[in-house]
Amino acid sequence: MAVTFRIYRFNAEKDAHPYYQEFNVDLPAGSTVLDGLRHIKDTMDGTLSFRRSCRHGICGSCGMTINGVNRLACETQITNLRSKKIEVEPLRSFPVVRDLITDMTPFYDRYEAVKPYLIDLKSPPTDRERLQSPEDRRKLDGAYECILCGCCTSSCPSFWADKDFLGPAALLKAYRFVFDSRDQDMGERLRIVNDKHGLWRCHTIFNCVEACPKDLNPTWAVAELKRAVIRQKV
Ligand code: FES
Repeated sequence: MAVTFRIYRFNAEKDAHPYYQEFNVDLPAGSTVLDGLRHIKDTMDGTLSFRRSCRHGICGSCGMTINGVNRLACETQITNLRSKKIEVEPLRSFPVVRDLITDMTPFYDRYEAVKPYLIDLKSPPTDRERLQSPEDRRKLDGAYECILCGCCTSSCPSFWADKDFLGPAALLKAYRFVFDSRDQDMGERLRIVNDKHGLWRCHTIFNCVEACPKDLNPTWAVAELKRAVIRQKV
């Protein structure tokens, strides 16, 4: 399988500007974009830099822009791209550290801002699970599976325009705890997302839904949070 990779290159320590570099490779059938990048790094240019870990769509570290679309490189089959030329770029709107590696600090700062952990203000500490009914547990389906790859937030025009916007990943995580029957700090959580850089910056563009490699729906979660803010008169 002969393909050409056109890869974004930038080394902040020596390059004045980013540039693109092409690599012609011959890969076995069934190869993913991550397989191609690993082949280039192992056999053609060891300086090529990118993140990866699990290779199974679990860790979220290989999010990048492939032929203009945010995807996980390890889950993207080259044959499915239906192109002999594969353009690979870092996730847009995050600062580039080197080649395909971005500084995800702004992304994680927003994640941390929504307090992504259970808050139980009344019950004493326990070494047991905090139980909930199967029905309440099912309400969290579609909200807990996020792997924090950043593909959604990077694809969001509202995030491009407002770098302080919480973004779809953080808002989906806020939803996951606002609607957890065991959590006891809904008021504070809704106050956080009701900020001027919070959920009202979402204009239901749905880019996040298209970009999510786990088929999650942050736009729907944001709509539910907006309803909750209005219902609770936050
Ligand atoms: S390497 Fe873990 S999600 Fe791709």
